[in-house]
Amino acid sequence: MSNKPSVVMVGLGYIGLPTAALIASKSIKVTGVDIHQHVVDTINKGEIHIVEPDLDGLVHHVVKENLLTASTKPVEADVYLIAVPTPFKGDHEPDISFVESAIKAILPTLKEGALVIIESTSPVGTTEKMEQFIFSERPELMGKVFMAYCPERVLPGNIIYELEHNDRAIGGVNEASTDKAVNFYKHFVKGELHKTNSKTAEMCKLVENSSRDVQIAFANELSMICDEAGINVWELIRLANKHPRVNILQPGTGVGGHCIAVDPWFIVNKFPEKAKIIRAAREINNYKTEWVIEKIKSTALQFEIDNGKKPLIATMGLAFKPNIDDLRESPALNVVKTLMDSNLNILPVEPNIESYKDFEIQTVNEALKQADIVIYLVAHSEFISINTEVLTLDFCNVINK
Ligand SMILES: NC(=O)c1ccc[n+]([C@@H]2O[C@H](COP(=O)([O-])OP(=O)(O)OC[C@H]3O[C@@H](n4cnc5c(N)ncnc54)[C@H](O)[C@@H]3O)[C@@H](O)[C@H]2O)c1
Repeated sequence: MSNKPSVVMVGLGYIGLPTAALIASKSIKVTGVDIHQHVVDTINKGEIHIVEPDLDGLVHHVVKENLLTASTKPVEADVYLIAVPTPFKGDHEPDISFVESAIKAILPTLKEGALVIIESTSPVGTTEKMEQFIFSERPELMGKVFMAYCPERVLPGNIIYELEHNDRAIGGVNEASTDKAVNFYKHFVKGELHKTNSKTAEMCKLVENSSRDVQIAFANELSMICDEAGINVWELIRLANKHPRVNILQPGTGVGGHCIAVDPWFIVNKFPEKAKIIRAAREINNYKTEWVIEKIKSTALQFEIDNGKKPLIATMGLAFKPNIDDLRESPALNVVKTLMDSNLNILPVEPNIESYKDFEIQTVNEALKQADIVIYLVAHSEFISINTEVLTLDFCNVINK
């Protein structure tokens, strides 16, 4: 590999595009590849198709300088990075078909000495499996292509900074691959680069998100126990956390997003007998959302019995966590849709979104003017100063903030 390798980035979404742009900003030629023509066309105009602070300026600059070019077809390169989606299908089974398609697409362009790095969150063993696939299709490359896995742990909204400054775990299928991958990341990562093997690196990503899921499940379980016991869970957690070695997280409406609510299943699916806590955490966090729905339904029914009319219910928040507009796997959105399907009169509020395809979104003031009941589902900062006299259910500790 010359001092400045040529790079192909397959998948130009939330991870692939910022990574491609960052690498290109170090004067490295990058060809970004995506199956969607509109993504390719947008990027080649120096524009972006996703929302991420500071990304548009960076992409505009590297495209103008001819350092980043987008295409629907891969070209020959020294380094290939794969950042395509890895959702689950059926009964929480990981779907690695996008990774397989990406590998198939780069296969004809692979040359001796090339380095292939998978960044997509992947079940343990995926990198080795893809290596075997490459060698079975191109036997002349056996032992002559390097393969590694390097997971991403960026925070949406701060991706450009974190891509450059976060530590990385880098695992090759052999030591030569690990070393080659580490040398590549040195071109653009300032964080520490930790060497490991591919299976450990794959598991590392899954474990990071499972750890968060298990800790949130503990808080969510406590919230349901405390409700039955007549104890304020927020006060309880605040007091328990005064212990110098206790740090309980905050309960909420459930767990959402495309990482924490998805990745633990990759472990459960592969190790069903052993992954008991990880499975339980997923189930508890999903159950918490059902529990919230039942609480709201019984509160609405009681209102109807007491007042002789169905209540208008303002539901505050749709996103999967505070102060973002991301609805992927959002428990709050699930709550709102289920309540609407149950014929309750819902006034959905989400200050971070102007419109939604399935229903009309209300402003905070519009909803509060009409509501008989207010339900806090997401602790957006806009909700913290709300002062209302009507019956309120708070599932995310907005009231005491
Ligand atoms: N977004 C995050 O915060 C984040 C964080 C850590 C890890 N990840 C992981 O990174 C991976 C990518 O996530 P993302 O958020 O960037 O996804 P995304 O959906 O934003 O982008 C994926 C892109 O890949 C393209 N694509 C799909 N199949 C392709 C193929 N065969 N060839 C070329 N392009 C193809 C899609 O058109 C899309 O533009 C996933 O495995 C995800 O779990 C994401």
